[in-house]
Amino acid sequence: MSQLFAKKSLKVLLDDMAGDNRLKRALGPVTLTALGVGAVIGAGIFVATGEAAHNTAGPALMLSYVVAGVTCIFAALCYAEFASMAPVAGSAYTYAYCTLGELFAWIIGWDLVLEYAVGAATVANGWSSYFQSVIAKFGLHFPDALSKATIAYNKTTGSFEMTGGIVNLPALLVVGIVTAVLVKGISESAGFNALMVFIKLAAVLFVIIVGAFYINPENWDPFAPYGWTGLSFFGHPVAGQTTPAGEPVGMLAGAAIIFFAYIGFDSVSTHAEEAKNPQRDVPIGIIASLLLCTVLYVGVVAVLTGMVKYDQIDVNSGVSHAFKAAGLPWAEFLIAAAGVAGITSVLLVMMLSAPRVFLAMSRDGLLPKAFFAEVHPKFMTPWKSTILVGLFVATLAGFLPIDFLLHLTNIGTLFAFVIVCAAVLIMRRINPEAARPFRCPLVPAVPIIGILACLMLMFSLPAANWMRLFAWLGLGLVIYFSYGKRHSILGKELRGEIAPAGHK
Ligand code: ALA
Repeated sequence: MSQLFAKKSLKVLLDDMAGDNRLKRALGPVTLTALGVGAVIGAGIFVATGEAAHNTAGPALMLSYVVAGVTCIFAALCYAEFASMAPVAGSAYTYAYCTLGELFAWIIGWDLVLEYAVGAATVANGWSSYFQSVIAKFGLHFPDALSKATIAYNKTTGSFEMTGGIVNLPALLVVGIVTAVLVKGISESAGFNALMVFIKLAAVLFVIIVGAFYINPENWDPFAPYGWTGLSFFGHPVAGQTTPAGEPVGMLAGAAIIFFAYIGFDSVSTHAEEAKNPQRDVPIGIIASLLLCTVLYVGVVAVLTGMVKYDQIDVNSGVSHAFKAAGLPWAEFLIAAAGVAGITSVLLVMMLSAPRVFLAMSRDGLLPKAFFAEVHPKFMTPWKSTILVGLFVATLAGFLPIDFLLHLTNIGTLFAFVIVCAAVLIMRRINPEAARPFRCPLVPAVPIIGILACLMLMFSLPAANWMRLFAWLGLGLVIYFSYGKRHSILGKELRGEIAPAGHK
């Protein structure tokens, strides 16, 4: 029992970094911010915005982005404090191991894999839609059976249906290519990422600056056609309207859906071990990328809902279609092509993150080290787990629908944020003297508001997502109790099987 709540000490954590299986320190503040922006701006703004404005929030989606962005800032400040204290791979998993104990650490690590892997599958799905619309401009099409997921979610009935498709082949292919790039190495990946980030920032600025000339302010009226709230509690409406299938709609419900667009800033902290000066650069990377993205997102939504009346926005690729409707078809093509590039860089960073969480977990003995901690002798990357994650992501992306994957990613990520905020509070109490190169301001207010805001968004998601989250965590617990608990290095020390390394 005591093992479940045993904590890894900060000192041991930092000592671990002196070991042999080290990742290469290649990333500076600009590269980290670029990785952050690369991880953040992607399918969320390019794909999910149209549908969220059309079906969930109307022009008030601008405020939904502010609510989601502010929620992320609270969590980001907590992430940044931890990332500067314990700059090792593993992110929230490692933070939880130092504060809440082994069981919570396992739960959060397992949840992070859900966030990154299911998130990557969502992004691969969005990539496939944009890619297909780009090649269609040249008269090229994938056969119908190979162009979409096997099942789809029907919003009106609230049930899943067969689409007639066999597999989403473009999604499978892009996941395969990204996996190969990641096995080859972090420096190459970061260089490729920088180019992609440049292209998508140019596309987003283009949308905002050119689109501003086509705004008709009358389109912003009514501003909140679905209301300002949209809260439910395990499927029971608490405030605001719902769809016929019982899903909440409104400004807050919109924030819960487009929250996906902000996911990724936290992955900067999983690269702390690869940062040249983690104490300074990781907090800079997290906060700079988040602020930049919030401003850009609100700009894009203001333009989109100002150019097209919310109920006429295209639900699949709203941004590029708005330019077509404004009589700028060349711009539509440009944006769709940049969207493909932008979404690719998100996929890259998400698939880079999951193997690094596995790496941290296996170093602690919770997963087989021979497989998950093996760093490739030439490329210096955790190549075996990168390939495993690639296979998992490809399977999800090939067969499941985008909204299913998107909601699941959101709830998993919000859950991780709740734990990180709580962990900052606990760490301040149990380890007040530890060096904190970056201190989260206004503690306890910031972590507490962060926890409440994340829970509010979790409850604004359709209730079935809670069940899926519990199912995933249940599977994780089975693995922990059948493997991790017995092989845990901390557990072996507690049982006297190996000499203690200074844990408490
Ligand atoms: N934030 C990322 C995106 O929008 C996951 O694609």
